[in-house]
Amino acid sequence: MAIKNDLILRAARGEKVERTPVWLMRQAGRVLPEYRKVRAKMKGFKELVETPEFACEVTIQPVDSLGVDAAIIFSDILVIPEAMGLPFQMIEAKGPWFEKTVKTSADIAQLRIAEAPDLHYVMDAIKLTISGLNNRVPLIGFAGAPWTIFAYMIEGSGSKTFSQAKKFLYAQPALAHQLLQKITDSTINYLKGQIAAGVDMLQLFDSWAGVLSPEQYDEFAMKYISQICNAITEVPLTVFAKDAHFARVSMGKLNCNVIGLDWTVDILESRKMIGDSKTLQGNMDPCLLYADYATIKKETVKMLKTFGPQKHIANLGHGIYPDIDKDKVICFVDTIKEFRF
Ligand code: CP3
Repeated sequence: MAIKNDLILRAARGEKVERTPVWLMRQAGRVLPEYRKVRAKMKGFKELVETPEFACEVTIQPVDSLGVDAAIIFSDILVIPEAMGLPFQMIEAKGPWFEKTVKTSADIAQLRIAEAPDLHYVMDAIKLTISGLNNRVPLIGFAGAPWTIFAYMIEGSGSKTFSQAKKFLYAQPALAHQLLQKITDSTINYLKGQIAAGVDMLQLFDSWAGVLSPEQYDEFAMKYISQICNAITEVPLTVFAKDAHFARVSMGKLNCNVIGLDWTVDILESRKMIGDSKTLQGNMDPCLLYADYATIKKETVKMLKTFGPQKHIANLGHGIYPDIDKDKVICFVDTIKEFRF
C-alpha cells in the first residue's frame, strides 16, 4: 500500500510538493517525556536499541506527538563497529566508550566485514516499525559515514579534536585506507539490509567531518561516501556532513539525492556551490528552540523562504538538544507545516 504522506520522498527526488516537509535529527529522544519513560525502564541505552519492540515504540513517538513527516529508526551509528568486532558501552551522561580500539594492522585484520544478519535486531525493529506506522509516513534508515565510524574506532570515545584518529591518518595512511574500506563494505551491507527490511530513505551521518582539512576530507572521507552513494540506488539517500562547508562543491557531485546542511553555512551560497540538482536539508540552529515562540516562528519562516518552495526538507542543522521544551519543537514543526508560499 502507498504511504499516505510521502512529501519527504517526493521532495528528496526533486518532485513537486504542496508544502515543505519536516523531520528532526534526534527527534526520538530525551526531548520527549514519553521517551524518557520507556528509557527509564531499560538497563541502558543499548537495551532500548537492541529490543525491537521498544525501538519501534520510541521511533513512532515523535510521529504521534510532534507531527513530523517521517520517522527515523531508533538505533545508533556505533552498531557497525560493534558488528565488526569492537563492542561499545553507552555511559550515562558521558557518551560512547570502547574497551578495545584499533591500533595496529593485526587489529584491522581481525575485524570482520559486517553483514545485515549481524544487525538482525535493527532489521526486526525496522519491520515492526513499518507495520506500526501503518503507511502514515516514510521510515528513514541510517548509518554513520566511514570517517566518523573510523574516528570512534581509533579514539575509543568522543573527543573534541579526534587527534588520535587524525594522527592515524598522518602516520599510517595505508592502514587507515584499509580500515576505511572495511567500514565502507560493512556499511553498504548494513544499508542494503535496511532497504530489504523496508526503509523508504537513508541518511549518512558524518558528524566529525569538521576536524579534517579539505584535502584530508577528500582522501579519507569523500572517497568512501562516494562508494556508498554509488552502491545505494534503491531509495533516496541524504549525506549530512557536519561542519564540512569546504566540501560543498564535491557534495554536489555525489550520486545521492539530498545534502544536509548545518546552521553555520549560508543557504543561498550553499545552493550555488551544490547546484540545482540536489534537494537540500536543514538547517536551523538547534539553539533557536530555546527562544520565545514569536522568534521561533519568525526565524523558521525566514529559513523556509530562503530555501524556497521546492527541493527542501526542513530540519535542524544537527540533533535537538535534550533540554529543549517539547512545545517549542512543536512550534517549529507547526510553523513549517502551516506555511504556504
Ligand atoms: O531520533 C533519531 O535521530 C534517531 C536515533 C539516533 C541516535 N543516535 C539515538 C541516540 C541517531 C540517528 C543517532 C546517530 C548518532 N549517534 C550520531 C550521528 C548524529 C550526530 O548526533 O552527530 C552520533 C555521533 C552518535 C554517537 C552517539 N550516540 C553519541 C556521541 C551519544 C552520546 C551523546 C548523547 O546525546 O547522550 C549517543 C547516544 C544517543 N544516541 C542517544 C540517543 C537518543 C542519547 C542516549 C540516551 O537516551 O540515553
